[in-house]
Amino acid sequence: MINMVSIIEKKKNGLELSEEEIRGFVKGVTDGSIPDYQTSALLMAICLQGMNKQETFTLTDAMLHSGQTMDLTAIKGIKVDKHSTGGVGDKTSLIVAPIAASCGVPISKMSGRGLGFTGGTVDKMESIPGFRIQLSPEEFLHAVETSGMSIVGQTQDVAPADKKLYALRDVTATVNNISLISSSIMSKKLASGSDAIVLDVKCGHGSFNKTQEAADELGKYMVEIGTNAGKKVVAVITDMNQPLGDAVGNSVEVIEAINTLKCQGPADMTELALTLAGYMIYCGQKASTPEEGRAMAEDALKSGRALETLKKFIKAQGGDPTCVDDYSMFKQPKFTAELKAAEDGFITEIIADTIGLASQHLGAGRKTKEDAIDLSAGIILKKKVGAPVKAGDVIAVLYSDDEDKLAAGLKEAASAYSYGCEAPEIPALVKNVIQ
Ligand code: URA
Repeated sequence: MINMVSIIEKKKNGLELSEEEIRGFVKGVTDGSIPDYQTSALLMAICLQGMNKQETFTLTDAMLHSGQTMDLTAIKGIKVDKHSTGGVGDKTSLIVAPIAASCGVPISKMSGRGLGFTGGTVDKMESIPGFRIQLSPEEFLHAVETSGMSIVGQTQDVAPADKKLYALRDVTATVNNISLISSSIMSKKLASGSDAIVLDVKCGHGSFNKTQEAADELGKYMVEIGTNAGKKVVAVITDMNQPLGDAVGNSVEVIEAINTLKCQGPADMTELALTLAGYMIYCGQKASTPEEGRAMAEDALKSGRALETLKKFIKAQGGDPTCVDDYSMFKQPKFTAELKAAEDGFITEIIADTIGLASQHLGAGRKTKEDAIDLSAGIILKKKVGAPVKAGDVIAVLYSDDEDKLAAGLKEAASAYSYGCEAPEIPALVKNVIQ
């Protein structure tokens, strides 16, 4: 039995915790024997004093083994997972998974729901008519066998220690510590059983990493944790200052993902998807370099193979694949409003998290975990950073089922924009790659 008071005291004084102490702590959190006030005190001490690499590796391993770990050995080949640290308009998984799967890389992915201004892949997929995100193990294997991929909701049993710790961190101002963030993300990814993981680490307004330095550091930490656990991990550091692509919401994002697979997607969305898919194909050993992987990804898009894989995947998970060719099958919003440019000039900034908040006001996102969401609510950006505009030009269209929510979303979205008389420099989308 560990002595929590002495562990808290030790970390408060900046000392290293032993493996036994960390494992005992995670066990006590999981079985509920450590009271929340002692857990919170230790989390705060970790935030203030930090943890070294060895402590972080041990914490990750203890959390990853705190519950069920997925056994994917029945699926042949090198299984590759992809994870994004979260952003606004980030529908990348719905594009890269079918691209990589159509190039022979088996994809088995667990995704989460959205909370706050960031959306979740699971909510987006639920806007597909009939689509199921909870599958039995047999249905899951069948989906991977028939379409090459499966994306399911995170089960309660994966890394339960992280679930409890994250809930406490959220309400005790202890989210923002690199060891806690990296062990939280990697424990869940490693428990999901894939052989390789491509991480999309966001930086900018719409991410919890506000600077590239913070994102680089987090990426390096996660790559080290994964490598230490025997997995191939690549972290791609990408821009999240303005929203990704043009669509923000649920069904609007799925439609944009389908358009991208039809080679009709926004340029930034297509570029990011090809880069990440290239790394996934490379990590899955179907290409000998990331560049070759990217060329294969381009071919999968242009030939229509990736779109066919998406249709098979939708069918395998109970959805109706005809929605890919008939967008009227998605739930339609009751109300629409146009957002107009406030000034003549160039759009110099569209603050991603403000657009995320506007989308939440429209009904597309949750304020608390229990909130229901409006799958048809959302925003289509008609102009992005750098576009020349005249006052009164339509710069975005907003959708909601509720007129009051539409008005609140419109007001919030307007505050995301800045204008100037000179065209701004557009930041690079892919900022760094850590292998
Ligand atoms: N996402 C997670 O899963 N955990 C964190 O700590 C931060 C983001």
